[in-house]
Amino acid sequence: MSEPKRYLVTSALPYANGPLHIGHIGGAYLNADIYVRYLRMKGKDVAFICGSDEHGAAITLRAKKEGKTPREIVDYYHELMKKAFADFGISFDEYHRTSSDEHREMSQEVFKKLEAQGSFEVETSQQYYDEEAKQFLADRYITGTCPNCSSDKAYGDQCEKCGRSLSPLELIDPKSTLSGSKPVLKETSHWYLPMAHHESWIRDYIGKGEYQDKPHHDPKEWKAHVVGQCMSWVDGGLQSRAMTRDLEWGVPVPVAGADGKVLYVWLDAPIGYITNTKVWAEKNGKNWEDYWKSDESRLIHFIGKDNIVFHCIIFPIILKEHGGFILPYNVPANEFMNLEGDKISTSRNWAVWLHEYLEDFKGRQDEMRYVLCSIMPEQKDSEFTWTDFRDRVNNELADILGNYVNRVFVLMHKYYSGTVPEISGTPTEAEQAAATEARRAYEAVGKAIEQFKFREALAEAMNIARAGNKLLTETEPWKLMKTDPQATARILYACLNMVADAAAALSPFLPFTSGKIADALQINPRTWDEVIQREQISSGHTIGQLPILFEKITDETVAAQVEKLAQRQAENTATIEPIKDTIDFETFQKLDLRIVKVLAAEAVPKTKKLLKLTIDTGVDKRTVVSGIAEHYTPEDVIGKHVLFLANLAPRAIKGVESAGMILMAENPQGQLSILSTEREATTGSTVK
Ligand code: 2FM
Ligand code: ZN
Repeated sequence: MSEPKRYLVTSALPYANGPLHIGHIGGAYLNADIYVRYLRMKGKDVAFICGSDEHGAAITLRAKKEGKTPREIVDYYHELMKKAFADFGISFDEYHRTSSDEHREMSQEVFKKLEAQGSFEVETSQQYYDEEAKQFLADRYITGTCPNCSSDKAYGDQCEKCGRSLSPLELIDPKSTLSGSKPVLKETSHWYLPMAHHESWIRDYIGKGEYQDKPHHDPKEWKAHVVGQCMSWVDGGLQSRAMTRDLEWGVPVPVAGADGKVLYVWLDAPIGYITNTKVWAEKNGKNWEDYWKSDESRLIHFIGKDNIVFHCIIFPIILKEHGGFILPYNVPANEFMNLEGDKISTSRNWAVWLHEYLEDFKGRQDEMRYVLCSIMPEQKDSEFTWTDFRDRVNNELADILGNYVNRVFVLMHKYYSGTVPEISGTPTEAEQAAATEARRAYEAVGKAIEQFKFREALAEAMNIARAGNKLLTETEPWKLMKTDPQATARILYACLNMVADAAAALSPFLPFTSGKIADALQINPRTWDEVIQREQISSGHTIGQLPILFEKITDETVAAQVEKLAQRQAENTATIEPIKDTIDFETFQKLDLRIVKVLAAEAVPKTKKLLKLTIDTGVDKRTVVSGIAEHYTPEDVIGKHVLFLANLAPRAIKGVESAGMILMAENPQGQLSILSTEREATTGSTVK
């Protein structure tokens, strides 16, 4: 198969458990978007498929943390992510969800077929169970010490520190993520996918996208780090993997005797690519099976490096077991992007959030697209810093591209009132050199994109503007006009066409800017190959006005973003007090804790922090002094039921005798909060 008839391009379905950050975008979305925009310009039939991954521990643990249901979490983040992708110009054809009915049907169908033909083995074994939470603990529900690198933050499926894939039983000192308690072993049954007998063809397949019965004839080179990770996994032995879990949230296992079990998220999620293709096809009068079941289609998965084995080994095995599906042709996974010297982390809030960037930098998507593409972690981890962002925007986008396009527009309007002049005479060496370089660079862009070398492709696209700038600098048409108007017309004619070509070459990367340039040039989009075949702008064509393409990023802007990160870091590292020494139950029982009602409150004169409160304990009425005046006004607290320590020895505070203490929660930032009861409180209720 030399040229496929159609392309199916997917980006990893992100978990709908938090907002998107620049690491996501630089990992699996911007590269895919550039690739797809290029294919569309090449006139290819392409479906660009993504969606939210709405199952798995990532979702349920987040729900637990936020005190919400999994449904509330996925509904909220699905919409937030979908909008952020669209606003950033990631041009998915479909962005659907794995908690949809369509997906339940599709993933259950795949499971049922595999089950019916005996692809699974049902095994009963002892697994960790949390007796407090009444739940089996797999994957992220269990943590412990890694047997490989001794990190104490390893999960039941993987150690993020050393990358080793694990099973819960391998963890040293296992602990439940749900309750923190030590789990016990309990018997349960699951459907396992044996993988060992797939080893031979998988070895053949990795790195080429082809295997014995499906040769592609022009296999593309897979990235070395992708092949390396897969091979070390295969070398470690392809163990059977459980494809079901004992959980409530997920796609129910569609066979008898599987009550309370759902599909493993890593079985259901990749099938989401199929579901979402079907959803898209049905809306657009297409046949989804053409994309998934025809040897004339090419499937490409864009993902981050943490997803490699799932896409290169497990999913292909599932597809092959099922039969009828094509396998991924290439999986050009990226490595990770760090931020200002540290790993990007959702839980530590160490990230540049996409929706916040879009707010802070309205209408400047292309600046971030440019920088993220320039530093894309294609072969190794890379790093985003705000000063580098400033330098690339100012020195490259503004000074090279913006400046070039602007100079050409200014001269065209000044000398020819915006109407392209007739040209004559023989081009000079400088003119020929610029044209040759622009053409070389343009063709290099396409080649690099096809090889998933997006950084190189972007640099080549910018070389078109560089060639134009060089021609202007060398020939100085603003001086030449006085002595050689014929050459000046020729040069500006060429420069204007190079503006159009640069805009075309850059449009997969900078779609917003390219659109602005094309509008100002008053030209229509061309296909990728038309740009090579013909000049677009001829004599007599009139151009419009160019808006400002790039505003420079100021040092103040950089400082504000760096400050935003520093503030978050301070919030994160704000001290959490260590747990105090153990006390016995008798000591605890000595505390008289009860709910009391605040009857009156007033500030203690000449103090900033103190309120004098009259409270009703249910037994008596008392006066207490409380240090909450900076957090609550007297009006805030009058009538409230609060938690109270009633048998604390009375003491005088600023001359007022205080008989007991109102109890407050204090967060690491020092903010106080009254503790109230969840159900309606009655004065005098005791707390045990
Ligand atoms: O790592 C992740 O964010 C996963 N949600 C990716 C899933 S990709 C696909 F298989 F759906
Ligand atoms: Zn480890």
